[in-house]
Amino acid sequence: MKTLVLDACCGSKMLWFDNDNPLTLFNDVRSLDTTLCDGRPLVIKPDTQEDFRNLSFADGVFKMVLFDPPHLNKVGDGAWMALKYGKLNDDWKSDLTKGFSECFRVLEDGGVLVFKWNEVQIKTKEVIQCSPYQPMFGHISGKRADTHWILFFKNSAMSKSASKHSEAA
Ligand SMILES: C[S@@+](CC[C@H](N)C(=O)[O-])C[C@H]1O[C@@H](n2cnc3c(N)ncnc32)[C@H](O)[C@@H]1O
Repeated sequence: MKTLVLDACCGSKMLWFDNDNPLTLFNDVRSLDTTLCDGRPLVIKPDTQEDFRNLSFADGVFKMVLFDPPHLNKVGDGAWMALKYGKLNDDWKSDLTKGFSECFRVLEDGGVLVFKWNEVQIKTKEVIQCSPYQPMFGHISGKRADTHWILFFKNSAMSKSASKHSEAA
């Protein structure tokens, strides 16, 4: 059953109503059980521990993929935010391009990719450029209106490499 939905970088699964959702394969590159400086526990316990830049799953196996990668590149390695959310490398454009590409590869045609981005250091517009597909629609939320929820639909008409005119014809 755990082949319907992939959470490509689940972290501590804060956004899940059921963090043991039976339809979802929870993946993260890290596995961690620690305490943050303010005493809050931080548990990252994925089903699989893979790098979203190079996933082992076959093409098109998931109906939905959630992609909520780290959004900070200017943060100390030991800072609680880096511990909780991970940290981008200097080469984040290349990493997120590979991440998007892998998430779309394992997503079936007609599947949905949900992307979440916190626009505190890097513009959402810049990050969307890393995706091989155009976004469909989105919503901005959060106290400071910096959390962007964006939905992609895997269809050749939405592929950036496709000519929209020839696809529509
Ligand atoms: C913003 S957090 C995810 C938060 C999560 N959605 C939640 O609800 O708590 C980003 C996560 O991406 C993970 N990550 C960073 N680089 C990764 C990679 N190359 N492959 C897989 N996971 C990665 C980090 O370990 C971190 O847990």
